[in-house]
Amino acid sequence: MPSLYLRPLLFAWSLMWSLLTFAAPPLPHQAPAVSQGNINCASSTCHGSITPWHDTNVLQNEYTTWSMYDKHSQAYKVLFNDESKRIAKNLGLKQPAHEANLCLDCHAHNPQPKLRGERFLISEGVSCEGCHGPSEKWLKSHTVPGVTHAQNVANGLYPTSNPVAQAKLCNSCHVGDESRFVTHRIMGAGHPRMSFELNTFIKIEPPHYRIDSDYIMRKGNVQPIRSWAVGQLMTAKSMLDTLADSKRNHDGIFPELVLFDCHACHHPMSNKRWSSRNALPPGVVRLNDSSLLMVQAILQATDTVAAKQFNTLNMQLQMATTGNTTKGSQAAFSRVEETAKNLSKLVTELLPKIEKSNLDQSKLQDIFMVLVKTGPSYTDYAGAEQAYMAIANVGNLMLESSPGGASEQLKRSIDRLKKELANEDTFAHKNFVEEYSKLGQLMQDKNGRK
Ligand code: HEC
Ligand code: HEC
Ligand code: HEC
Ligand code: HEC
Repeated sequence: MPSLYLRPLLFAWSLMWSLLTFAAPPLPHQAPAVSQGNINCASSTCHGSITPWHDTNVLQNEYTTWSMYDKHSQAYKVLFNDESKRIAKNLGLKQPAHEANLCLDCHAHNPQPKLRGERFLISEGVSCEGCHGPSEKWLKSHTVPGVTHAQNVANGLYPTSNPVAQAKLCNSCHVGDESRFVTHRIMGAGHPRMSFELNTFIKIEPPHYRIDSDYIMRKGNVQPIRSWAVGQLMTAKSMLDTLADSKRNHDGIFPELVLFDCHACHHPMSNKRWSSRNALPPGVVRLNDSSLLMVQAILQATDTVAAKQFNTLNMQLQMATTGNTTKGSQAAFSRVEETAKNLSKLVTELLPKIEKSNLDQSKLQDIFMVLVKTGPSYTDYAGAEQAYMAIANVGNLMLESSPGGASEQLKRSIDRLKKELANEDTFAHKNFVEEYSKLGQLMQDKNGRK
């Protein structure tokens, strides 16, 4: 236990750490330290208790939660199922899925062989070290009384509580990055579609931690709406960086199709449904720009100057992907890479501002209103799905922070949006729009009555 004198200092330090924009350290699978396996975490006096402890900082039953309820503990096992066998066969992999790095890179913690300790087991799937980093240099120190979170991080504990680092980590498997990526070929072979929204997934993942006063003391305060916004910017950045990466942005003469709206191609021809968006002409394949739409909404509510800049660069990118402004495929790709880099640069510049911004209750309402107003423009399923997740996130945050008059109606409206999205093949944009106009009305009534 640190002395009373030290406590305020430590607090200030941890707060600074959490607010400080820093280059996130290497991801767990790329960190230069030895991974030692779950066995070091799982004992009943460490993190393997059956029930949570009450007189300690952390719950101590993290391993039990992870192994019993968290899908990450099953991530390796799914590589033995029929679906995985089919994917591996369709792709013509030389090894079975559970031996192919292509699959293991995301379905397990898969560090280089020389960085595996004696008791490391790949079969543990997305293990503790898969998110918290190889434990070689922090395992001993992290239980020493008085050692701070910042010191553990300096010893190689991955800073999972920092919003930027957290988004980088989750996105690296759920959206993909230069080290692991689900291409349209892998999807075509049968891999499920990846749909990810950070806050939603943080909520679905059975939590093995509790954000209470001592947590805030050790790690700094968490403002959920700010984490949400940071997550959106980071996801947009992942997508833009893929577009800008000449190694990943094409496959043969085609662009990499996972970057585009799946339903631009995957829908029956009898269903004529084209409508104008982003000034793009009919018959072109649109980007899956759902994360860009969310960033646009966040900026519109928080920084109108940046919102304009973002919109201009986004339009340039959208135009570039349809080859409208260039002749020849070489030039078209160069233009896409250039415009994607420009937009990614802007997002990178905006990140620290959003990270430091104070997104309070009134900003929450502003963002919600922008989402409700722009909701109807998300004509494609992926956009509508992201818009729903955003509305649900922001809506739930509003409900949590000020449960009030319209809350029951708001909840029901969010549920109806969810139902509209239940089946991507029968998704009807029209119903979605109606629900949004009801939501807009609801918010107006609510604010009017105040
Ligand atoms: C870039 C990371 C990544 C790569 C590479 C990857 N996967 Fe996945 N896979 C995921 C994620 C994330 C999910 C969960 C998707 C969700 O539920 O949103 C998933 C889900 C699955 C599922 C469904 C699991 C379930 O519980 O139903 C199967 C099967 C699967 N992957 C097999 C494979 C195989 C086989 C390979 C190798 C050819 C592979 N994956 C490569 C990230 C990846
Ligand atoms: C999918 C990624 C992931 C995996 C796998 C994972 N964690 Fe976590 N863990 C997190 C996140 C995110 C947090 C919350 C942010 C934070 O406090 O760092 C967290 C928090 C924690 C905390 C901090 C609680 C506190 O009050 O400070 C402990 C302890 C912990 N995890 C232990 C474990 C153990 C043990 C395992 C393996 C059984 C594990 N985690 C597996 C992502 C993960
Ligand atoms: C090393 C890669 C990896 C990392 C890092 C990772 N995940 Fe996952 N995640 C997966 C895979 C693979 C699956 C699918 C497992 C399965 O279905 O068996 C998955 C499944 C999930 C699921 C269950 C989804 C469902 O359909 O039920 C949630 C929720 C989730 N991850 C959240 C997160 C969050 C939040 C983070 C960051 C704190 C994170 N993941 C980090 C690979 C990863
Ligand atoms: C530019 C058009 C285009 C886009 C965009 C596109 N696809 Fe495809 N997709 C195709 C084509 C062409 C095939 C091959 C069809 C065939 O083999 O009959 C295919 C095949 C598939 C298959 C295999 C279908 C089967 O019958 O086995 C899946 C699954 C799939 N795509 C998923 C997706 C997902 C998910 C996305 C979005 C992330 C997406 N596609 C985006 C054109 C597209």
